[in-house]
Amino acid sequence: MINDLWYKNAVIYCLSVGSFQDTDGDGVGDFQGLMRRMDYLGGLGVTAIWLMPFQTSPGRDDGYDVSDYYNVDPRYGSLGDFVEFTHAAKQRGIRVLIDLVVNHTSSEHAWFKSARSDPDSRYRDWYIWSEKKPANANKGMVFPGVQKSTWTYDEKAAAYYFHRFYDFQPDLNTANPLVQAEILKIMGFWIQLGVSGFRMDAVPFVIAEKGAEVTKPSEQYGMLRRFREFLQWRKGDAIILAEANVLPETDFEYFGDDGDRMHMMFNFQVNQSMFYALASADARPLVKAIEKTSVRPATAQWGMFLRNHDELDLGRLPETHRQTVFDAFGPDKDMQLYDRGIRRRLAPMLDGDPRRIRQAYSLMFSLPGTPVIRYGDEIAMGDDLSLPERNCARTPMQWSVEPQAGFTKSSKPELPVIVDGPYGYHHVNVADQRRDADSMLNWLERLIRMRKEAPEIGWGDCISLDTGDPGILALRYDWRNNSVLVVHNLHPKPVEFELQLDGEGTGGNRLIDIMDGGNSEADDKGRHTLLLDAYGYRWYRLGGLDYLLRRSEV
Ligand code: NOJ
Repeated sequence: MINDLWYKNAVIYCLSVGSFQDTDGDGVGDFQGLMRRMDYLGGLGVTAIWLMPFQTSPGRDDGYDVSDYYNVDPRYGSLGDFVEFTHAAKQRGIRVLIDLVVNHTSSEHAWFKSARSDPDSRYRDWYIWSEKKPANANKGMVFPGVQKSTWTYDEKAAAYYFHRFYDFQPDLNTANPLVQAEILKIMGFWIQLGVSGFRMDAVPFVIAEKGAEVTKPSEQYGMLRRFREFLQWRKGDAIILAEANVLPETDFEYFGDDGDRMHMMFNFQVNQSMFYALASADARPLVKAIEKTSVRPATAQWGMFLRNHDELDLGRLPETHRQTVFDAFGPDKDMQLYDRGIRRRLAPMLDGDPRRIRQAYSLMFSLPGTPVIRYGDEIAMGDDLSLPERNCARTPMQWSVEPQAGFTKSSKPELPVIVDGPYGYHHVNVADQRRDADSMLNWLERLIRMRKEAPEIGWGDCISLDTGDPGILALRYDWRNNSVLVVHNLHPKPVEFELQLDGEGTGGNRLIDIMDGGNSEADDKGRHTLLLDAYGYRWYRLGGLDYLLRRSEV
């Protein structure tokens, strides 16, 4: 089992091919470039790469508007390059997950072009139409502020079409069996080319009932089982990681009671409470979010993350908590994305303070799930708020002090490299950090190694221990006769506190520090007295170092 359910103890690195490494000098990254950086990723220790959409696209939503599901956008290379890349990844023991964007297509997709131009087109029913403007046309926008409606009139079709996102992203009629069959075909195609699964975009919308008459869309969860079943037929260890920002009450609908639907889901609930904890030094809501989402089928897993390519969505927090996070991490209007969230990268949100950035990563890595790192975070890259919308946090990877940060030979990359200020590439780049033993890059490499060697976090039961201070979080994991304890001090000052280790497991009297040294012996009442620096953190293993002998590999 341990070696089968690889995603339970993986370290995922997400990147967009276009922002990683350009080799042909057109200012856009490509698969050839990504291949040249594979040893970098191997060295960092990541076990899987999640690629943002790279299929043919007009690129009006950074590729989340696909116009041909069976091709690589020529700017990134060819299908041949893609296969070379999956092969290169496999040679290094790295799996590849790719985005699967099938809630909608681009309006430039041949299916939509055909559907709009002929009511008898075989693709007409692949989209959602209405002759009259639906009553709820001004409701349910995902991008309020830039999106005025969810129904747009199309002259050619002489009808309104439904689009949950931008008007150039018409929704597919996912209830149509032909559309479902096509989705399976798309999955089968990429599986054949070497991927280990998919990050499925906008899952709640994929499975939602759609149509002009629908006022309260119900979800067709059964579809998720069919997706999984098909995938498992084609490749037993392939997975689906769902983007589904839903309430904990419905988690089981997505995972399936028997774990027969989505293998993984991003934990948005925990993500938002984590930012509240970092902003307020109060970990109580985070503990609640962990508890609410802790029960899941044994084969299911959470994807834990700090920032991603979208804004930091704070929609699940109570109003006062949301305001606390805005005040701490995105007080200015240009740091926010309308009232949806904060569009900055992690490092600038935390004032570039290495103690806070490392603590945030240590915290995320030690939450119950599989960590997902965003490219550039390993060197604490910044953002460029002069760029529109979410582009500010999608700037090219900063490799060195060469022109354009070594990203491209072009003097005009499609998205500009960050040059000025403390996050400019002269200050923040891979080459410099590689040479510095204390750099963020080398620290994160060590964190990754440590996380991989603590499968208790990926597999085990997690309980929160009472520290007597909401600003000190202590999580204990128990799994197969082994236990790990992780403590974080969210306060900006050092703290000393006492900890009584509850829970089953071995060796609570002796804590072995697996990060920096500094073990702890309990007093005769079984209490530990621990000291943490300002924004400090420690990872301990309980008991002696013979833990490997206690673990069974079944
Ligand atoms: C969610 C993606 O993360 C986001 O970037 C995209 O704009 C929407 N889905 C639409 O595909």
